[in-house]
Amino acid sequence: MRLPAVVLRAGVLAALVCMDPSESVSSDTDNARQSAELISALLVAGRGVVAQHQAKINDPSIGDKGFTPEYVDGLIRKAFEESSGTPIDAVEPAEVRTNLVAFLDASKEAIRNNQDRINAPGIAFKGFIPAVYGRITGNVLKGKTGIELKQTAILFRNAYNEPDAFEAKVLDEFQRTKPENGHGEVESGYYRYLRPIYIKEACLTCHGEPKGEPDIAGRPKEGYKVGDLRGAISVSVPISNDQAHAN
Ligand code: HEC
Repeated sequence: MRLPAVVLRAGVLAALVCMDPSESVSSDTDNARQSAELISALLVAGRGVVAQHQAKINDPSIGDKGFTPEYVDGLIRKAFEESSGTPIDAVEPAEVRTNLVAFLDASKEAIRNNQDRINAPGIAFKGFIPAVYGRITGNVLKGKTGIELKQTAILFRNAYNEPDAFEAKVLDEFQRTKPENGHGEVESGYYRYLRPIYIKEACLTCHGEPKGEPDIAGRPKEGYKVGDLRGAISVSVPISNDQAHAN
């Protein structure tokens, strides 16, 4: 699987368009919006890196996979720069850059904390898949920043992925309209953004047909077909300005 540069492009460009360096005052809501959209793009990139290395991670004949935090970090940064034309370290304003770097730090911690699992020799399927990488990274990010990052779906596999009321409403809308881009709005002091995820060929081994039959992890497949809405990446960024809470 190639790095998802094309998938990334739409979202990253949409978020970066408003980064006009000549604009000295950037509202907290706008910073939260950009952070949410770009973090969802970074998670897409990180998930893509795990997917691209899945065969190697699952190879029982290799011990040390070289799938280190720094290696993964470099690939995510490269995918971001290729799709946006901007290196992460040059993203303005600083409030947004800080949030993106916080995601990368969380991603590194997730990879670091799973080195034993990834490098275990003699085991094929280790359960270190894109969704698990995303969940662990989200947990670390939330603990460090208060930013919530979640992978959710109408047919969720685990309770922690269950959509809340806002997510359920947006997922229903995605299901009807099958949009290419995500949807965001201010809600209860957060900028909340959902980015739709659609089923690709590579997802079918676990999420495809026949419905109900166990996947490699022994979980029932959902019976999806290519192009079906699988779910969404959901990002909630606290808005720091009190005035923004009023709307
Ligand atoms: C090796 C099996 C496997 C493959 C391949 C796979 N998934 Fe998953 N997926 C899972 C498992 C297991 C979970 C639950 C993980 C968790 O969150 O603990 C999951 C969860 C998810 C979730 C979170 C919602 C939920 O159901 O709980 C999304 C979204 C998702 N997968 C999308 C995808 C997409 C898109 C692809 C293809 C690009 C894909 N998956 C490929 C096994 C897989």
